Amino acid sequence: AKALFQPQDLSGKSLVITAGPTQEAIDPVRYLSNHSSGKMGFALAQAASERGATVTLIAGPVNLATPAGVNRVDVVSASQMYEAALNSIAGCDVFIGTAAVADYRPSSAADQKIKKDGSGAERTITLIENPDILASIGHHENRPATVIGFAAETQKTEQYAADKLQRKNADAIVANDVSRSDIGFGAANNEVLWVSDQQSVPFGPASKRDVAHFILDQILNLGN
Ligand code: CTP
Ligand code: CA
Repeated sequence: AKALFQPQDLSGKSLVITAGPTQEAIDPVRYLSNHSSGKMGFALAQAASERGATVTLIAGPVNLATPAGVNRVDVVSASQMYEAALNSIAGCDVFIGTAAVADYRPSSAADQKIKKDGSGAERTITLIENPDILASIGHHENRPATVIGFAAETQKTEQYAADKLQRKNADAIVANDVSRSDIGFGAANNEVLWVSDQQSVPFGPASKRDVAHFILDQILNLGN
């Protein structure tokens, strides 16, 4: 019923949203990952769907219900998320990368469970860099009209967000300060800074639902 009260100002728009962490296999029973809950991406998917958009949500491993009307694609690793994202950009008007994509993965995942050798000696896992999904889409020949990234920072929030805006050819970066325990990773509330070439706009603290609607308002304001 809530959806009936939302303006249908995204009707006819196709959104692709990445959300959650990725898991990078070390062996069949172990992985590298991070603490992303996926809540921000799922809140955005729900809000956009309520406002009439067609939404594809590419989700890493999370414990969240699929919002009504949203087309969900589940992935595990950054490489799978990259492939799913590139496969979904045809006809996409707005790409939003909320996922906490693992920057590196083990250079090879062992086929069998790695056994400890009991010697007490150091062990090393060699890592290689994952593809940057947001940058690839920002620089893609079929780039969606609007490309939005997120940035979780612990310092120099606005400066690092502006760097990412340029490097990834995004229209805006939504930055938040994860060094604060009251907002960000896993928290119900969020406080963000919308950083575009035109302006920096602070919003919150507010629920992730309200932050989602703020971000969608800003996207419509871009007028792309
Ligand atoms: N991102 C992505 N693919 C990656 C890494 C990041 O799509 N391999 C996206 C994230 O979804 C987010 C934005 O890029 O929208 C910024 O992510 P962040 O981790 O802050 O940027 P990095 O470029 O990885 O820089 P760093 O982790 O060193 O701050
Ligand atoms: Ca990163």
